[in-house]
Amino acid sequence: MSLRDKNILLIVTGSIAAQKSPALARLLVKEGANVRCIATKAAQEFVSLEELEQASGNPVSHDLWKPGQTEEGAAIEHIDLTRKSDLVLITAASANFMARMVHGYAEDLAEATLLANNSKPVFIAPAMNVEMWNHPATRANVQTLVERGAHFIGPAEGDLACGETGLGRMSEPEDITVALLAHMRLHAILNGYKALVTSGPTYEPLDPVRFLGNRSSGKQGHAIARALSNAGADVTLVTGPVSIPDPAGVKTLHVETAQEMLTAVQANAPYDIAVCAAAVSDWRAKETSAQKIKKSGDAPTLELTENPDILAAISNADNRPALVIGFAAETTSLVDNAKAKIDKKGCDMILANDVSGEKVFGHDETHIHLITRTDAEDWGVLSKTAVAKKLATRIIRTLQPDVCKDVA
Ligand code: CTP
Repeated sequence: MSLRDKNILLIVTGSIAAQKSPALARLLVKEGANVRCIATKAAQEFVSLEELEQASGNPVSHDLWKPGQTEEGAAIEHIDLTRKSDLVLITAASANFMARMVHGYAEDLAEATLLANNSKPVFIAPAMNVEMWNHPATRANVQTLVERGAHFIGPAEGDLACGETGLGRMSEPEDITVALLAHMRLHAILNGYKALVTSGPTYEPLDPVRFLGNRSSGKQGHAIARALSNAGADVTLVTGPVSIPDPAGVKTLHVETAQEMLTAVQANAPYDIAVCAAAVSDWRAKETSAQKIKKSGDAPTLELTENPDILAAISNADNRPALVIGFAAETTSLVDNAKAKIDKKGCDMILANDVSGEKVFGHDETHIHLITRTDAEDWGVLSKTAVAKKLATRIIRTLQPDVCKDVA
């Protein structure tokens, strides 16, 4: 895998590490990429337009309002630059620049260009002081950018420009290039595979204002959809009501009830891979009241009926995916209960959450055991993003045993 004929838009922002950008541009060009650069005003404190021009072999764009700085003309340059690129790489990304990205600022060419990009993958190589990297504001901004589909390369640990040591140093140009190549390789692996992921809770209405639901945040299912999409799969995500954004590049269908979820799942079949991470409500009200149920002095009795089991329906369908994976929340006899669930539902694997004494719903970390018919692996406590990547790796290894182990 190489970067041959890839059009890379390299956005250089203002940290001292911007000085490394010409070396990076040169490496990318050496790998066969066509590199176009944008330098922010702050970047130009540390690197000259001429250096970037020489390294990339192309004119460097830097001014939102200066017409004719490229052959395309500046009027629509911010739209054109991403349209003509295959990927966007932001180097020496400062805390300030990432904060402005999160809020959709468009005050200079770099910001306007990023705001005009809804489809091309974005890679961010941050560079900042360790305290700035660790600040809750930056943590939240990184989380938001990841949820929107950005890929972070680094930062690395080491000596920082401010004289301190820690996490915040921009990754070296060689490491950034290797990370891009790894992404390209990964992205080719599940190309041609169709994947389904269910996520979030379901809401089962009782009347126009009330429902039966649960606390699922959708974080795990959405992270799995993102990881499979990063591996090149064509992913359909069917999600119940959640407050997190749709993963970038993933076809996302929004439903409320278990029955709507099943309909959406079946309407988009067949798939090669199915991962049911949704916390589907096991029951719904037998009758839904068309009017708001009023207090009458006596507490009403709710009659419930069982919802369709979506995981079982997928596992037992004529067009069953090659790989069907479910989740289970267990407090006791985790392995035995999960194995019994594999038999009951007819799936191939279960990711069992150990929820004894721990909070999982809405939290970023979880303790997972991966259970198959024959095996049980304790994955320990991991972030939901890490679980998603590990699962994607496992899926790749199961479907393509000859592909190397650490692809995801
Ligand atoms: N599931 C589903 N449709 C349902 C219920 C569950 O697709 N109506 C899926 C979930 O997405 C998850 C798995 O089945 O992948 C969980 O199964 P479930 O039997 O609900 O597990 P627990 O909630 O752990 O079950 P129990 O309460 O019986 O232990």
